[in-house]
Amino acid sequence: MKSIQVGLLGIGVVGAGTFNVLHRNQEEIQRRAGRGIAITMVADLDVARAKSIVGDAAQVVADARAVIANPDIDIVIELIGGYGIAKTLVLEAIAAGKHVVTANKALLAVHGTEIFAAASAKGVMVAFEAAVAGGIPIIKALREGLTANRIQWIAGIINGTTNFILSEMRDKGLDFGVVLKEAQRLGYAEADPTFDIEGVDAAHKATIMSAIAFGIPVQFDKAHIEGITKLSAADIKYAEQLGYRIKLLGITKRRQADAKAQTREGIELRVHPALIPAKRLIANVEGAMNAVVVQGDAVGTTLYYGKGAGAEPTASAVIADLVDIARLHTADAAQRVPHLAFQPHTLDEAMSTLPVLTMGEIVTSYYLRLRVADEAGVLARVTGILAEAGISIDAVLQREADEVGGEGSNQTDLIILTHDCVEARMNSAMSEMQALPTVLAPITRIRKEELA
Ligand code: HSE
Repeated sequence: MKSIQVGLLGIGVVGAGTFNVLHRNQEEIQRRAGRGIAITMVADLDVARAKSIVGDAAQVVADARAVIANPDIDIVIELIGGYGIAKTLVLEAIAAGKHVVTANKALLAVHGTEIFAAASAKGVMVAFEAAVAGGIPIIKALREGLTANRIQWIAGIINGTTNFILSEMRDKGLDFGVVLKEAQRLGYAEADPTFDIEGVDAAHKATIMSAIAFGIPVQFDKAHIEGITKLSAADIKYAEQLGYRIKLLGITKRRQADAKAQTREGIELRVHPALIPAKRLIANVEGAMNAVVVQGDAVGTTLYYGKGAGAEPTASAVIADLVDIARLHTADAAQRVPHLAFQPHTLDEAMSTLPVLTMGEIVTSYYLRLRVADEAGVLARVTGILAEAGISIDAVLQREADEVGGEGSNQTDLIILTHDCVEARMNSAMSEMQALPTVLAPITRIRKEELA
């Protein structure tokens, strides 16, 4: 049978990795796919560089539209990134009847609804395993392997740059700014690391997972996003003393209505630093590695670990999508795995109109650090406010004043771990605590996830 012909838009690090792995493992890939898969056309603005990678194996052009217009091309791989020209080209490729493989999490998290609708109308597939956690087959696991389950929650370390920075902060006791500079010098963080360190990249990925897990549309605009820039070495150290690690987590959870707590039924979708018990496997994911924990009602907890970025790990996911398309593209479109796991017509039904909850409505537990005057009654006033708000305390740690402020200091750090409560309630309790004259600096609040 004739090889399936693939056009590649953008041959950077991942594109070159895809080309190389496809070439290196072509025999096995062909045996799995049932036919050969060949990148026969590449579009890149740097034509000379592209030619140096593909040699004579593929035609190289500067104009991506020449690839889309080529009737011999069956699948277009989009590796340009961003929501600009990439969106236009993906929609044009779909309109031209091409299947699309993309690693573009930003594009799908923001414009996924439009793109998947266009693909369904045209009867083509848009595959995106590489968009979430690079080489880890988490989309496959959620859409297919766990399809029997009612998914309850997902929590993932889904940004390698920030996990590398947090690991270094913990190992070396250094503050964020110092480690970021070092990470940039070593090439672990980009020259403009904003999307990574502010949690935006992780929120794109969490948004995609929430849609697949709960059958809701992609709703990046509803995601709560907090990065790691405000974390201090002191909090990482205190967390460790209490048996926790701090990680940037992408979290999405199904929440039932709770009359007592006055909360609605809905979906939590949030990215922020979180304390997690050091004994959990995911707490021990270090450096640039990624990991995702999924809790399903039937299977219990499952953990997926691996490289979330890089040339060949990402190529591994891109090629898996190519093989899926090669196997399925002649099948009736209705028999294919739906883009977001649930059949699109069910998106009008009750379950999938579940709202994404506001942060005031989420339920979690907390780490609080208060810089307080070291005098009688301070702890009692602080805990009194929490008790009044119905927030139960799990643990308290108070440092020696000398250790915190130097010899003779009359200030100290009071660290409190709480049990679960509704965030709105914690917000009001924090305002009251902050107003106490004996609370001497802005309170640090980091959410805590037991992931039990
Ligand atoms: N910049 C991402 C990371 C990889 O640091 O994990 C691509 O999403």
